[in-house]
Amino acid sequence: MIDTEKSSEIAFAESAQDHVQFDRLQQLLRELAMFGGRDDGGVSREALTDIDLQARRFLIDKARSLGCEVRIDDCANLFFRRRGLSDLPPVLTGSHADTQPVGGKLDGAYGVVGGLEVIAALNDAGIETQRAIEVVAWTNEEGCRFGPGAMGSSAFVDPRRLTEYRKSMDATGMSFGDAVDLALKAVADVPRRPMAEQMSACVELHIEQGPVLERAQVPLGVVSGIQSVRWYQLHLTGSAGHAGTMPMEERTDAMAAAVGLAHQFYDYRVRHATDTLRLTLGRWQVSPNSINTIPGSVTFTVDVRSVDEQVLAQFESAMNDMIRDYNWAGSIAVENLFARPPTLFPDTMLAVIEQACERACTKALLAPPMRLTSGAFHDAMYLADQCPTAMIFVPSKGGISHNAAEETDPRELFLGVQALAYAVTILANLPLEK
Ligand code: GLV
Ligand code: MN
Ligand code: MN
Repeated sequence: MIDTEKSSEIAFAESAQDHVQFDRLQQLLRELAMFGGRDDGGVSREALTDIDLQARRFLIDKARSLGCEVRIDDCANLFFRRRGLSDLPPVLTGSHADTQPVGGKLDGAYGVVGGLEVIAALNDAGIETQRAIEVVAWTNEEGCRFGPGAMGSSAFVDPRRLTEYRKSMDATGMSFGDAVDLALKAVADVPRRPMAEQMSACVELHIEQGPVLERAQVPLGVVSGIQSVRWYQLHLTGSAGHAGTMPMEERTDAMAAAVGLAHQFYDYRVRHATDTLRLTLGRWQVSPNSINTIPGSVTFTVDVRSVDEQVLAQFESAMNDMIRDYNWAGSIAVENLFARPPTLFPDTMLAVIEQACERACTKALLAPPMRLTSGAFHDAMYLADQCPTAMIFVPSKGGISHNAAEETDPRELFLGVQALAYAVTILANLPLEK
C-alpha cells in the first residue's frame, strides 16, 4: 500500500522496497550461479567465454520476461530497460556477470540480479517512475582474462578507450575485440545502443569482499568511495639452461631474480609504507615452465592499492629503483597496465543511499548502516566520471571473495536489494530537470 501521508516520491520508494521478494532473489542468484557453477560451490565464468555468453542469454530472457527492453553496446555491455514516463536520462544500476577464474556466486552477479529484482518489485507494486531504470551487466569487470579491469564501464563512459581495449589479448592469444564481436554475434536479436549516453544517476549494489561490515555487525554499508589502484607487469629475461649441469654461479635464472625482487617489494611494504598499502603479486608465467630447466623468462603482475594515492606513487618510484638497481645479468621490463586515483562519491548520493539503507535496517530491527571505503574497484568507479554515482555494500562472510567460498547471509542479500529498490525509485522520480 502507498502511504498517502508521505510525499509521493518517498511513498513509492517505500512501496518498491516492500515488494522485494526474498525467495525470488535467492532463486535468480541460484539460477545465474549454475552458469560456470563448480563442485566446490564457486563459479568460473570469465568474461566472454562460452559459459559467459550462455549466462548473458539467460539474463536477456529473464529481463524480457520482466517487460524490459534489452539493448547492447559496442563493448557488449548489456542493458535491460524498464520504461519511464518521461524520456529524461535514466537511472542506472547493475554490475557485472563475469567472474574470476575461480570466483564466487555473488561478486558482480548480486548487483545484476538485485537490479532485476528491483524491476520485478516495481512491476508487482504497479509503480511507474518518471525516469527509465536501466539494469546493466558490464563486460569484463574482473580484468583477469583481458586486462585491465572494468573495461565495459570505462569504454561506455569514454568510447575512445575501446580501440586500445580491443587489442588486449588473453592467455590463448585471442583479442578482446574478437571476443566482443563473437558476443555481439551471439545476440544478433538484441538491438545496439550508443555508448556514452548520459545517465541521471548510478547505484551499484555489491558484496563488500572485505571484513569491515561483518566485524562491525552492520548489515548494510554506504560506500563513500573507492581506493586507488595501480597494476604493473614485469618481464624478466634471463637464460634457460640445464637444471643439473649449469653451475649455480653461472646462471642467469629469471625465477631467482623474480623471487628476489618479490621479496624486496614485500619488505618495502613492511619497512616503508603505511598499513594502507595492499600488495598482490597474483599472476606468474614461467618459461619454459619445465621441472628440469632453469627459467629463461618470468612474467609477473603487481597489484597495489591504497586509500592514499601518494602511497602508490611512492611505491611506484621505489619499485622502479629496485628494478634498476637489481644486480643480475638479465633484463627487466615494466609495463604499466592500469591506474585509477581514488573515487569519491558525492554527498547528495550518499544521503539517498543512507536514507534507503536506514529504512531497510530499521524495518528489520537491525543496526543502522555505516559508511566505508571500497577496497575493491568497481564499475561505479568509471560511472562516477559521468553522473552522480554511489554504491551499497552487504557483508561478506569472513571478508572472503575472489574465492569459491565467498558467501553472504541471504537475509543481508535481501536487505541490500531492499535498499537498492528504495534508492533507485527515489532517483527515478527526482524532479524533472535534465
Ligand atoms: C575487482 O575485482 C578488483 O580487483 O578490485
Ligand atoms: Mn565485482
Ligand atoms: Mn571481482
